[in-house]
Amino acid sequence: MSPPIVVSHALGSYPVVVEPGALGRLETVAEERLAGRRLAMIADAAVYELLQAGRLGRAPWPGAALLFPPGETSKTRERWAALTDALLADGYGRDTGLVALGGGVAGDLAGFVAATYLRGVPYIQAPTTLLAMLDASVGGKTGVDAPQGKNLVGAFHPPVAVLADPAALATLAERDYRGGMAEAVKHGLIADENYFTWMEREADALLRRDPAALTRLVRRSVEIKADVVSGDEREAGRRAILNAGHTVAHALERVTAFGIPHGEAVALGLVAECALAERMGLAPAGLGQRVAGLLARLGLPTRLVSPLSPERLIEAMASDKKNLRARVRFALPRALGVMDTDAGWTREAPAADVREALTAIT
Ligand SMILES: NC(=O)c1ccc[n+]([C@@H]2O[C@H](COP(=O)([O-])OP(=O)(O)OC[C@H]3O[C@@H](n4cnc5c(N)ncnc54)[C@H](O)[C@@H]3O)[C@@H](O)[C@H]2O)c1
Ligand SMILES: [Zn+2]
Repeated sequence: MSPPIVVSHALGSYPVVVEPGALGRLETVAEERLAGRRLAMIADAAVYELLQAGRLGRAPWPGAALLFPPGETSKTRERWAALTDALLADGYGRDTGLVALGGGVAGDLAGFVAATYLRGVPYIQAPTTLLAMLDASVGGKTGVDAPQGKNLVGAFHPPVAVLADPAALATLAERDYRGGMAEAVKHGLIADENYFTWMEREADALLRRDPAALTRLVRRSVEIKADVVSGDEREAGRRAILNAGHTVAHALERVTAFGIPHGEAVALGLVAECALAERMGLAPAGLGQRVAGLLARLGLPTRLVSPLSPERLIEAMASDKKNLRARVRFALPRALGVMDTDAGWTREAPAADVREALTAIT
């Protein structure tokens, strides 16, 4: 058993356990971290079914469970209210302890229930998608979507522990699995050249979901995200580098009405934003090609299948709700593992360069 990764935040810290079989330790960790509490699991119904059928490598969960239908459409205030009402109806009190089981949707939704239930109760994250393990379960952001956009209502509410079990990824759909790897490539690009070259070397093992390779991948990504968010919980500064590739990715998602899955949009966004860094003379020529090469080996897109005009993407970036008053900003790389910080953690880019860079993927 390797030691957990410790993520610190304003009010304390929590361990992230990353190892095959971690889900089997849920009861033990709950006894330690949620001692004496009345437990309820809030779970993605499809994942819960796998759990109870013994397909996640551990015995069925014997306790109370509240389920929601899988998918982003469950990340709503209505679903948050229904889950909260169910807890209230069952008389859950201030001694409640929650467990979020599933992908990023479960973590965000159950985390937001935990953040607000009786002004906040502790919870454990049990992420079961690659994206949730190496990205969504770390950092303490919880919330739901609104008709106006994603993640517009939420709270910072860090979990008391995260149990990431790479063995539980065996059942994950191929497209969801590969999508998660786009965020790992991002982590290598923003913070660790050795990690990036390790992924290049181990691409085949990763595609096979080799447990040892996967454990190392999740661990290193969690370490990088933990390191970035520990110093900047509320995204005042360095946390912005986690948005590498995401300015373009969010525009792609908006223009296609979320027809492109997030991980694939991030892959395309990384390629376009590396091209932008090259055009602006921040990064050496060839960086974008190297990043695209790894993404392609991991089965991720590096060019749009149905072409889109760069203008539509530029418009979508400018009208992003979160940017309403601000100008469009990018977190750009200098080199593998090194981000540009000359103009702060993010910077604006000349319109002509953005347009040109977008032709790398459109
Ligand atoms: N809080 C954060 O910091 C943060 C960061 C990144 C993303 N997110 C959020 O995460 C969400 C996306 O997460 P996601 O990609 O995990 O999506 P998801 O939770 O919808 O899971 C994707 C699909 O995989 C299925 N699934 C989950 N685990 C499985 C398993 N082990 N085997 C088989 N199927 C399984 C689910 O039923 C679902 O259909 C978005 O809402 C996004 O906003 C949050
Ligand atoms: Zn992302």
